Amino acid sequence: MSEPVAAIGANLSPDAAIVAALGQRSIVLIGMMGAGKSTVGRRLALRLRLPFVDADTEIEAAAAMSIPEIFQQHGEPHFRDGEARVISRLLAGGPLVLATGGGAYMRDSTRARIAAAGVSVWLKAEADVILRRVKRRADRPLLHTADPAGTIARLIGERHPFYQQSDITIDSRDVPHETIVDESIAALHAHLVGAPALLHPLSMDSRS
Ligand code: S3P
Repeated sequence: MSEPVAAIGANLSPDAAIVAALGQRSIVLIGMMGAGKSTVGRRLALRLRLPFVDADTEIEAAAAMSIPEIFQQHGEPHFRDGEARVISRLLAGGPLVLATGGGAYMRDSTRARIAAAGVSVWLKAEADVILRRVKRRADRPLLHTADPAGTIARLIGERHPFYQQSDITIDSRDVPHETIVDESIAALHAHLVGAPALLHPLSMDSRS
């Protein structure tokens, strides 16, 4: 007989209990560009000792070209098909922490795949935070418009109703990344293990 999830968490640190409860499922970060999915995902994976994969990086490796080049040479629909394939393949190899591109969660089949093979964490950021962060880089083809702020506002309007379907929502704001990681760990623990995590630096980790 399999052990109840609460029992799995009983004698483990919060981090270890999350990993035990995940089984083969992955933690999937979703949300707008600039929400911090890759930065937070990398740190979250380190904390949980899981592999970290950035879907955009995998897509670029599979296509042997950058995302702006894929958009330019093959168009957005081609990029979206590749994105869905890559995410599906990665989710078959869990558990891992997976950062997805901002548009990936809009596709019905990808949302279904994530729901079946993962726990979704929406990093929810306000438009002004996103705009400030994305201004630092020019590698997002969807923002190569005359009015990036207007484009972000439109995308937020279109996408938030989908992002709201995620398992967990974390308010991504300008605080140290580790704060967002701590909040993600606490929310994952509550979601997966069903009890509030007692997070303190001396918590015993059975895997250390
Ligand atoms: C996109 C977001 C990008 C990348 C592509 C399209 C989007 O990823 O997948 O430029 O549709 O929002 P990030 O969210 O990691 O920037």
